[in-house]
Amino acid sequence: MKRAWWKESVVYQIYPRSFLDSNGDGIGDLRGIKQKLDYLQDLGVSVVWLSPVYSSPNDDNGYDISDYRAIMPEFGSMADWDDLLAGLHQRGIRLLMDLVVNHTSDEHPWFQAARSSPDNPYRDFYIWRPGRDGHEPNNWVSFFGGSAWQYDQASGEYYLHLFSKKQPDLNWENPRMRAEIYAMMDWWLQKGIDGFRMDVINMISKVPGLPDAPVTGPGRYQFGGASFIQGPRLLEFLQEMKQQVLSRYDIFTVGETPLVTTEHAVAITQEDSGPLNMLFQFEHVDLDRDRREGATKWDLRPLDINELKQVMTRWQKDLEQGGGWNSFYLSNHDQPRMVSRFGNDGHYRVQSAKLLATFLHMMHGTPYIYQGEEIGMTNVAFESITQYRDIETLNMYHAFVEERGLDPHQVLRLIHARSRDNARTPMQWDDSPHAGFTSSTPWIDLNPNYPAINVVAARADPDSIWHYYQTLIRLRREHPIIVYGSYDLICAEHPQIYAFTRTYEHERLLIILNFTAETATFTPPDQLPFSDTRLLISNYPVRPTDDVHRLSLRPFEARVYWLY
Ligand code: NOJ
Repeated sequence: MKRAWWKESVVYQIYPRSFLDSNGDGIGDLRGIKQKLDYLQDLGVSVVWLSPVYSSPNDDNGYDISDYRAIMPEFGSMADWDDLLAGLHQRGIRLLMDLVVNHTSDEHPWFQAARSSPDNPYRDFYIWRPGRDGHEPNNWVSFFGGSAWQYDQASGEYYLHLFSKKQPDLNWENPRMRAEIYAMMDWWLQKGIDGFRMDVINMISKVPGLPDAPVTGPGRYQFGGASFIQGPRLLEFLQEMKQQVLSRYDIFTVGETPLVTTEHAVAITQEDSGPLNMLFQFEHVDLDRDRREGATKWDLRPLDINELKQVMTRWQKDLEQGGGWNSFYLSNHDQPRMVSRFGNDGHYRVQSAKLLATFLHMMHGTPYIYQGEEIGMTNVAFESITQYRDIETLNMYHAFVEERGLDPHQVLRLIHARSRDNARTPMQWDDSPHAGFTSSTPWIDLNPNYPAINVVAARADPDSIWHYYQTLIRLRREHPIIVYGSYDLICAEHPQIYAFTRTYEHERLLIILNFTAETATFTPPDQLPFSDTRLLISNYPVRPTDDVHRLSLRPFEARVYWLY
């Protein structure tokens, strides 16, 4: 396996709107990020991924772009952006920009032109169809609810939008459109960025004819993924992008790819032939949702740790064997806070956040940290729907309460568990009003726990989650085994413990994670011989005399040992 800087990196994701407001308008901005570069350097991360900062009417917080080459005025100017890039590079931190090219905003000049007349040369940059029997061209549901088609009065045709109606899908069949996208990517690379995170990139190729989706759930609109996830021309488009743009730079590329399989992932990330470096897969963050036909992300069920092992092990082994590369995340701007979801955000918040951090950093693949994760920020439970801002959450609330007639309190409980706004409450810097995020009213309320959970408090406590992250990041830099060691699951059936080894040249690490709030007993399998051990890191004080042949692990205890 070849060494590469993007394998050795730790990525920190910034959601700019919620990071730090420097000008008192309640919205995070680029100068705010610039003020925290020393913070990121102290933490030790080597790459920053910025969620979109381009011009946007903010129907989906910047994932609806109206100008790919301009900065959203709320976030600052291009000069502020240049300054930010310079500041990152001075500190040896690289920058990934978010590339959102499955769709644009409906306010993008291309779409404005496309909409102006069916003969406009930009018309074919988007996907237009006539209606069928007085209805939409097919039965696809949008990810944000309702039909994936919007009627255009002027032309009497519909346009496709897999996300909101203000996010029309681009038509990747059109070579002129693709050339424009590649030119735009090249423009950013020329400005000196270090790579891209590619939004829902495995949805850009649609099956010709856009056939109806099979009916699997209630209602008129159905999930059409079979016609656009990993579509027929996806690899061809990505290879073209690689050939025309990506291969000309030494960059980092990660594709966001819902519902991707390991087989697809190998084809896309294969070290020599694949177009991208790595992907975000979603299987592990789907394990706590009901997967019966017709169930949605709002239908929950408890996480089964043995399923987690199976899924993770399949991803680890299949990509290792196929010559691909994994990425690994437990939280991002679309997911609930990981400590509330997979750990325990009450009594064991600190221990379980550290356990999850150990899991994140000890897997084979590039780890991603989402802002606030390093201080163990938790989900929020706003009392009123008026406190929520996320389009997906608001659409769901109205559909569940007004159309399905569900009890609003019950719907709020689902939102507390799953809403994307859990991740989007402002970063908690200190215990001053608004947590030091802004001097005025924040665009979304803070999590009221900020007086206790904040960066100042975490950095003052040597035993904090923050310092634990700092140590894990340093260990990755010091020990190639953490980056390159091959992964093997042990104790596959243990009901509480997730344990595995990493092996590299003559070294071996043993990672033992008690995923439960009860004590658990660990005994290594006979096939794992060792005569001596040395502790690398743990989230509780550990006696050096402990015998690893029989350990009693405390709630959410995590230990990593060298084996000899
Ligand atoms: C995935 C992004 O992460 C999410 O925030 C966004 O809503 C959709 N793609 C649409 O761009």
